[in-house]
Amino acid sequence: MSTEVQQRGTFGRLGFILAAAGSAIGLGNIWKFPYIAYENQGGSFVLVYLAAILLIGAPIMLAEIVIGRRTQQSPVGAFLVLAKGVAGGKLWSLLGWLGIGSGFVILSYYSIIAGWTVYYFGRCLGWAMNGFTAADAANLGSSFGSFLANPEMQLTFHALFMVATVGVVMMGVKAGIERTTFILMPILAVILVILVVNSFRSPGFGEAIHFLFHIGPISASGVLEAVGHSFFTLSLGMGAMITYGSYVSRKDSIPKAGLTICFLDTLIALMASTIMFSIIFAVPVAERADTFQRSATILFTTLPRMFFALPGGGVLSPVFYLLVAFAALTSTISLLEVVVSYFIDRRGWGRKKAAFIVGAGIYLFGVPSALSLGYSEALGRVAIGSREGFFTVVDYLASNWMLPIGGLGISIFTGWFLAGRIAREELEEGHGPFPLFAVWRFLLRFVCPLAILWIIVFVLRGGAF
Ligand code: TRP
Repeated sequence: MSTEVQQRGTFGRLGFILAAAGSAIGLGNIWKFPYIAYENQGGSFVLVYLAAILLIGAPIMLAEIVIGRRTQQSPVGAFLVLAKGVAGGKLWSLLGWLGIGSGFVILSYYSIIAGWTVYYFGRCLGWAMNGFTAADAANLGSSFGSFLANPEMQLTFHALFMVATVGVVMMGVKAGIERTTFILMPILAVILVILVVNSFRSPGFGEAIHFLFHIGPISASGVLEAVGHSFFTLSLGMGAMITYGSYVSRKDSIPKAGLTICFLDTLIALMASTIMFSIIFAVPVAERADTFQRSATILFTTLPRMFFALPGGGVLSPVFYLLVAFAALTSTISLLEVVVSYFIDRRGWGRKKAAFIVGAGIYLFGVPSALSLGYSEALGRVAIGSREGFFTVVDYLASNWMLPIGGLGISIFTGWFLAGRIAREELEEGHGPFPLFAVWRFLLRFVCPLAILWIIVFVLRGGAF
């Protein structure tokens, strides 16, 4: 191994779990999961999602960490190293490139949504101090709309979030990423527990639990959405976990760390849903109609009103948005790190320079998305099929194409092309015997690729999630 490789940052044991869980836990858990669970009538959707995490997400999570720690490289370099002497050779590194592209694209719009959470943190503070009037409640939908259509606002909050992300990544693996998640993740856990305990008292709590855990009908597209989301929520399919895995110490157990991350991510998605549904279902049925027409924006157009109807809403609501912003930050860090580590590992750039230049590029690429939400009609009309608007199109390409293809490649490579001996060595080093090895390999070889192919065929035939 070269000295350059030995100088890579490494995470402490808890550091890796926290940073990787921080990557996994984000807007996907708090913003997206609750509303897609709602759209798919909860219940069975949640069950399918749990199965997808266990049978598809978890094996690929372990595969990515294995690849990262084995090669000590970010995705492009990692596949170049492992593909030596393997059929396909250098072509496998295209998977690394796809991952870098996905990180770039996803971060460009993820940061915009993350910016909204910062803005709503500020608004809730304002309402808490000045009072939340009936007019404020009635105007939530329209004021969110005008916020989206306001280019200065969109670009400012997008910039703010990118600056914070770049700042952390610049500081490096230990001082930046590990320390930030060390501080933010426990705060996040405490806030979530407070909000969950608080929801026990909500009149909507019983209905929320029933909604999430009953068995009911589910459509084929619901199943696919659950599988697709299991990728996004665990930060899989683009090499984020390969990159973080490359900073894992050889003394740590990959199976333990990987499964802990999957467990925490799932737990947080369920807690966030319990919190949101307890608030939403506390409202009488007759008044819910308009809430659910806007499921994707519930977090901003409905939740403030419901918070302020609760005792203590003035404290709980800003705290809640702060939590979402923190969760988003620990995710944006990982998205940026994938791209930045390429320039550090393969181009020899310094970390600061890489973080700054890549961050600026991603910011600029996000500008058309930010302006497509109400300001620029032309950008709002950009479309692929029925998906309209630059923002929507970019999200569609990343979540429906780039991540599934990346995940398919990673599972096929690790299941079929990577020598079983190497995989076993990595899974057992720092862990001891790994009796589930055969099960893991079976899932990677057959279950994951088939499930993902099914998604791709569905998307090819015009479906989307
Ligand atoms: N998992 C994060 C969430 O649920 C988003 C995210 C961070 C991500 N890094 C990623 C998604 C890498 C895909 C790939 O919000």
